[in-house]
Amino acid sequence: MCGIVGYVGRRQAYPILIKGLHRLEYRGYDSAGLALVDSGGVLNVFKSKGKVAELEKFVESKDLDGTIGIAHTRWATHGEPNDVNAHPHYSDSGEIALIHNGIIENYRVLKDALIENGYKFKSDTDTEVLVNLIEYIKVSSGCTLLEAVQQALKQVVGAYAIAVVERGNQDRVIAARRSSPMVIGIGNDGDYFLASDGASIIDYTDKIVYVKDGEVVIMERDKPLKIVNLDNEKGKIDIKKLELSISQLEKGGYPHFMIKEIFEQPKTIVDCTRGRINAETRDIILSGVMDNLDKFLAARRIIFVACGTSWHASLIGEYLIEEFCRIPVEVEYASEFRYRNPVIHSDDVVIAVSQSGETADTLAAIELAKEHGAFVYGICNVIGSSIARATASGTYIHVGPEIGVASTKAFTGQVTVLTMLAVAIARAKGTITVDKAHQIAGDLLGLPSVIEETLKLNDFIADFSKIFTYAHNFIYLGRGYNYPTALEGALKLKEISYIHAEGYPAAEMKHGPIALIDSELPTIAIATPDHTYEKTASNIEEIKARGGKVITIIAKGDEQMQRISDYYIEVPVVAESLMPIVVSVPLQLLAYHIAVNKGRDVDMPRNLAKSVTVE
Ligand code: G6P
Repeated sequence: MCGIVGYVGRRQAYPILIKGLHRLEYRGYDSAGLALVDSGGVLNVFKSKGKVAELEKFVESKDLDGTIGIAHTRWATHGEPNDVNAHPHYSDSGEIALIHNGIIENYRVLKDALIENGYKFKSDTDTEVLVNLIEYIKVSSGCTLLEAVQQALKQVVGAYAIAVVERGNQDRVIAARRSSPMVIGIGNDGDYFLASDGASIIDYTDKIVYVKDGEVVIMERDKPLKIVNLDNEKGKIDIKKLELSISQLEKGGYPHFMIKEIFEQPKTIVDCTRGRINAETRDIILSGVMDNLDKFLAARRIIFVACGTSWHASLIGEYLIEEFCRIPVEVEYASEFRYRNPVIHSDDVVIAVSQSGETADTLAAIELAKEHGAFVYGICNVIGSSIARATASGTYIHVGPEIGVASTKAFTGQVTVLTMLAVAIARAKGTITVDKAHQIAGDLLGLPSVIEETLKLNDFIADFSKIFTYAHNFIYLGRGYNYPTALEGALKLKEISYIHAEGYPAAEMKHGPIALIDSELPTIAIATPDHTYEKTASNIEEIKARGGKVITIIAKGDEQMQRISDYYIEVPVVAESLMPIVVSVPLQLLAYHIAVNKGRDVDMPRNLAKSVTVE
């Protein structure tokens, strides 16, 4: 959730750290700070509440000399977002400074022991406990900083990615991780970079080492990189090339990343299907599925584990797999699954869906599934992410970096991959006809131009959104494949506009939510042609009969729906199972424009973070 970045080299560290923090701001933006060791060995910490821009203002007149430094952008867990709780944290004597992403779960016990030993605390954070513990071990046992870090981490229960610098040492940063992501970038000039993700250091290097759980990294200017574990045994340094271009991380003329990412969808669907659907034969080849066909064919059940938007995509996965593959499917919130002693068989296949590949609950659910002997498959966006590495096999969605906190292109990419996966398994299982499989593959190939056409609704929706900007509540309804789409539409709206919105299966409406209906409550009903079309029409009439305002998402030229709607948005029609991909586009646009009308910070909505690496 928090983002960390670090540098050791010959260049001035400050501009590198600030650029990295801006790139990492998607992970949290409650406060930001940095520590620099200047050429005289003085350790300076600067930090302030708010976004990285606030930190930049705060340090304007400060001496920012230093070719070594660490920096942090925070998503608060322990202690409110303020200047004092911002990272880096000094140790009590001011000799050491530390940044941390994660949670030290046993911080209370450690803190009490340190207080008994005379330590004083300034902040409410769990992190300050760790920096003081390191100092206490170093001073009381006379060991090196590295040894103190290793010993302190052995006492810690919880998750961490940390980086540490100390007064008087202008050459070295020590870093370590367990359950929170960390990469090291190897510069061309004897310099090293450290970050929560590769994207934040791609401006400087594409040579990346993914730090593994339990590893401690020693980065010293002009010296070879060293990796050891907590027992000081040497670790392997495996350098990978980061496939990413800087332009993918810029807004490219759009006012927000979210709208850029919405408009990228025709291209991201192409990237997602590239090399996986043969345009001539219409055969779908997903290597992850083909290589593990025995597991999928023998699966007693498929269990999805995911969070947030990825959970909504997984629900669509359930509909797809049950319809095409005839395999029973369960969709679990990863956070519930991991703590509720679920029944997992060794012939279950568990599919973890995650844009970031770093979500802590999803990672923990994967570990639980593995302990029970299940085969675990990953559907991730971020290449080399923790979930991609923790799963036995998987499929990348290849939609490029998603930076807006509200997920858009990742959702449509996930549904695209899930469609290919369901069809590939169904073909092998013989539960789908060849014609049907080819027809879906053809429809998938046609999707980019359909989305292109749907995006032409942008100006209309921008205008139309003004009518509903000041509504306090919204209901989103859908049935079948479009029920998860309704959930996702509601989530988009509440995330970025802070308007309460609920998604519901249209027919369930009468079992409760219908009591909410009055002229002040807009209902967005997805009413595209499918086998429940007439039923959805009746559900809409039920709302209208009670004075509710209904905005429908309908097929182009559908006069029946036009007549019963107060407002309607027309979309092109594709096969029923692919409609969620098309319908989610106007829902994304509507949420975006309402949030913009309300003056919200669309890409960095309050309290949220793109990558949730704490429980
Ligand atoms: C956060 C993000 C959501 C995302 C969810 C799951 O809550 O704000 O957009 O859907 O995490 O993240 P994942 O990376 O696992 O898909």
